[in-house]
Amino acid sequence: MAQVFVTGATGFVGRHLLPALLHAQHRVRCLVRKPVNAETLQDCSVYQGDLLHPQPWEPAIMGADTVIHLASVHRGTPELLHRTNAEGTATLVALAERAGVHRLIYLSTLTAAPTPQWPYAYSAWLAEEAIQKSSLDYTILRCSVIVGPGDPFLGGMIRIARSWPVVPIIGNGQTRFQVLDVRDVVRCVLQIIAEGRFSRKLLSIGGPEALRYEEIVERVLAALGVRKPKVRVPRRLMRWLVNRLEGWGVRTPFVPAHFLSRDHCAASLDVIQEHFRFSPTRFDDTLRAVCTSADDLLL
Ligand SMILES: NC(=O)c1ccc[n+]([C@@H]2O[C@H](COP(=O)([O-])OP(=O)(O)OC[C@H]3O[C@@H](n4cnc5c(N)ncnc54)[C@H](OP(=O)(O)O)[C@@H]3O)[C@@H](O)[C@H]2O)c1
Repeated sequence: MAQVFVTGATGFVGRHLLPALLHAQHRVRCLVRKPVNAETLQDCSVYQGDLLHPQPWEPAIMGADTVIHLASVHRGTPELLHRTNAEGTATLVALAERAGVHRLIYLSTLTAAPTPQWPYAYSAWLAEEAIQKSSLDYTILRCSVIVGPGDPFLGGMIRIARSWPVVPIIGNGQTRFQVLDVRDVVRCVLQIIAEGRFSRKLLSIGGPEALRYEEIVERVLAALGVRKPKVRVPRRLMRWLVNRLEGWGVRTPFVPAHFLSRDHCAASLDVIQEHFRFSPTRFDDTLRAVCTSADDLLL
């Protein structure tokens, strides 16, 4: 049983991870920005605070043996991305070192790269650097797009497929995603804690299929039994449109990383089986779970 300190507990992955940590009998402390009444936080010790202003919550990390770092932002200005993802992680690492934390698990992205022209990818890469230069026993999981009930990517596609008159295909629709089920990510994290493997390692992980963007859209339409025309939208136009919508406070499922022409694929389709010895969830099974939870929300 570990004493775990979790950042980003209110996010998509955090909401799936927390019940699993508690079920595995770990004691969980969470850093949350706003006072929330979330059911998933019920059996955790909750500390209110911001990653960027650690003074009030610094004592919460004392005595933790494991830190799971999920707090991040995917959208916003390059400054916000840099401050939260790069500087926020560096701050957390320094605190964890001072507090004598044994292990830090960080969920990074397959798009992480030393490319300042892509602020999100760059900020994640800088976060990885801060962790790798530390004295901590870290494991970095570079993940492909993570999906499951409550995710913005598939959830957003489902909303669009249901309510828009047409379904946009961004760019040529050929970018490939090795979509990863959130339950499998949770399972990997639990294994890392339980078995203490992958010490000071960075692993790239993805699901068992590499699907083209257009193929994902088609499977979503088929799963919903919806027939709608698909419309090709050039990447640049989409980026402009999304920036406009987000500027007006309209959330879209199209976070910048999804526009990149780079594939979101790990080295191999067997990577989870190879490293974690279980068969990851196939896309259609994940999609069924996401559609069911979206149906529940409609009821
Ligand atoms: N989802 C994916 O497809 C995907 C793919 C690859 C890697 N990842 C990585 O996996 C991790 C978790 O992703 P996610 O999808 O769960 O993200 P998410 O849903 O966007 O959640 C982000 C979390 O970070 C918190 N946060 C943001 N800024 C903060 C700050 N300044 N101080 C404290 N907390 C802050 C948010 O708190 P509020 O609730 O207050 O906003 C939220 O709890 C991230 O590191 C992400 O880069 C995700």
